Amino acid sequence: MKFIAKTQEDYQKLYNASVQNPQDFWAEFAETNFIWQRKWDKVLDYNFEKAHFRWFEGAKLNITQNCIDRHLPEKAAQTALIFEPNDPNEEAQHISYATLAENVNKTANLLKNLGVQKGDRVCIYLPMIPELAYSVLACARIGAVHSVVFAGFSAQSLADRINDASCKVLITADGGFRGNKTTPLFDIATQALQQCTSIEHLLMVKRCNNVSENDWHKHQQVLPAIKFSFWEKMFAAASAHCPPVWVDAEDPLFILYTSGSTGKPKGMVHTSGGYMVYTNFTFCNVFQYQAGDVYWCTADIGWITGHSYILYGPLSAGATTLMFEGVPSYPDMGRFWQVIEKHKVNIFYTAPTAIRALEQADISFVEKYDLRSLKTLGTVGEPINVEAWEWYNKYIGKNNCPIVDTWWQTETGGIMISNLAGVTPQIPTFATLPLPGVQACLLDENGKEISHLPAEGKLCIKYPWPSMARTIYGNHQRFVDTYFSAFKGYYFTGDGCRCDVQGNFRITGRVDDIVIVSGHNLGTAEIENAINQHPNIIESAVVGFPHAIKGNAIYAFVSCLHKPENEALLQKEIAASVSELIGPIAKPDKIQVCYALPKTRSGKIMRRILRKIAAGEFDSFGDISTLLNPECVAEIIKGAK
Ligand code: WTA
Repeated sequence: MKFIAKTQEDYQKLYNASVQNPQDFWAEFAETNFIWQRKWDKVLDYNFEKAHFRWFEGAKLNITQNCIDRHLPEKAAQTALIFEPNDPNEEAQHISYATLAENVNKTANLLKNLGVQKGDRVCIYLPMIPELAYSVLACARIGAVHSVVFAGFSAQSLADRINDASCKVLITADGGFRGNKTTPLFDIATQALQQCTSIEHLLMVKRCNNVSENDWHKHQQVLPAIKFSFWEKMFAAASAHCPPVWVDAEDPLFILYTSGSTGKPKGMVHTSGGYMVYTNFTFCNVFQYQAGDVYWCTADIGWITGHSYILYGPLSAGATTLMFEGVPSYPDMGRFWQVIEKHKVNIFYTAPTAIRALEQADISFVEKYDLRSLKTLGTVGEPINVEAWEWYNKYIGKNNCPIVDTWWQTETGGIMISNLAGVTPQIPTFATLPLPGVQACLLDENGKEISHLPAEGKLCIKYPWPSMARTIYGNHQRFVDTYFSAFKGYYFTGDGCRCDVQGNFRITGRVDDIVIVSGHNLGTAEIENAINQHPNIIESAVVGFPHAIKGNAIYAFVSCLHKPENEALLQKEIAASVSELIGPIAKPDKIQVCYALPKTRSGKIMRRILRKIAAGEFDSFGDISTLLNPECVAEIIKGAK
């Protein structure tokens, strides 16, 4: 079978085949497109109720052999990775497949020299520099499990993630450049490590030269049980030959944390075989990548989009993938467009929040640059509004580039619902149709599948796909409860969705206690926990509210022990505490001090009302007769106005 759809009929054929006989479909694709050290015994073994999913059981492989070695020697000189630094005056790096192989092998040996073995967890807390890519791939090379923590998270968040996975090694940098700021990563990391007992080794890459020898020794003295090493020294000493370690298809490849409805982030576990197969399949089909194209996904490798569509998907397809260290607004709002011109980017994949922010800037920032290299545009991470879609289409795509609206999740590992660039029709604000292999459906309030279209319901998937997460690290029951218990026999996404008469999906947003701010998932419970640390706070309720650029922003309603003397100060302290405990991305935009929060008789805060108030809707609250303290609602409205 031809597995890359070039026409709508191809798509339909592939889709039908994938539904009629999913296991043969994936087996044939897997067999003909990858190198396996040993073939599988069974394509798929699954049980929805137990959340038990195993793909390609018994197969042995190494994903880096498929992402790197197999492109050699033919593509030895082709650029695998373009590194564009934060500062436009610093030279970009073009890292060929041969050099990538050498650097990943060296890094793999470096890790081995630190005692890292197959199955060990390695935490990676790095900015978007090539060493991040090398570290991720080096872990995969030796069968170690990487846990990348976004370099914008706080010391507390980093410590929680290291402890949850009992990581053995932490790879960090002295600092990270983002726009005109330098994040003191080494300081944050060493602060985190004071709470971590599993880490044996800290490895630091020099990027910003912001750590003096004195600081280095001082921190080392505080953490006597941990060995500190410089990346550069160990890297230089490491051999450039490291044979891949064969792993089972179902061995864990990585853990990546995502916010949950309860306070604690969930360590989603992805495995090697199915993840490799599906990220490659979706990358090739959705973006229609052609040999020689330069592809740029602006996500951070700290998120799933970076894992699947900066590294594994593109590299397994032998693509040239660009990695950008900086931010869209530095040195000015033309930075993305300048990078596109400079590297002649053909495929550009970004988030609606970035588009909305750039849309606000003067159009001259776009017009200054030659964007004629662009062929395909993409969006991911949150629903795109029609204005942003139209602006993107007109000013960036010049009405001449298909836009793929890709819906997926950390949990799904790869793109699930999307049009295929130039192959299947696009509809502004619709993710459109499920990809081959994805049996998406809508369920109603009673958990019944809706077959009559158009419809609105909860988005679920009713058959396993190869790159689905396999468990939550250390807590399989939570995995079962979160995704497989609400509706028996289905994976529940947590998203609400509409479907038009043709079966096109339009995601409407989360239906649980997760708010997506600037494309980042934030758990409201986790933010409430952070706010409640403040000595004057009795309790808090955090909700999302619509925001023109971020999509959603955070609104915190708090009630205090004593009436605060200085409300502005209290708000500042709360913001600082959230920033410290989670990270600056979780800081509330609005904090409102209330005498009391609306509660049901059973003592539950009625967030539904607070969501409305936060959105500026001050009437039609529905039935509030079950409230214990209805009088507080008018007070809160007064305070919100
Ligand atoms: C949302 C990011 C609308 C959705 C890859 C999902 C989207 C959550 C889209 C997952 C899209 C992602 N249209 N909403 N194209 N893509 N979402 O885990 O609510 O960071 O559940 O994965 O983002 O976010 P996550």
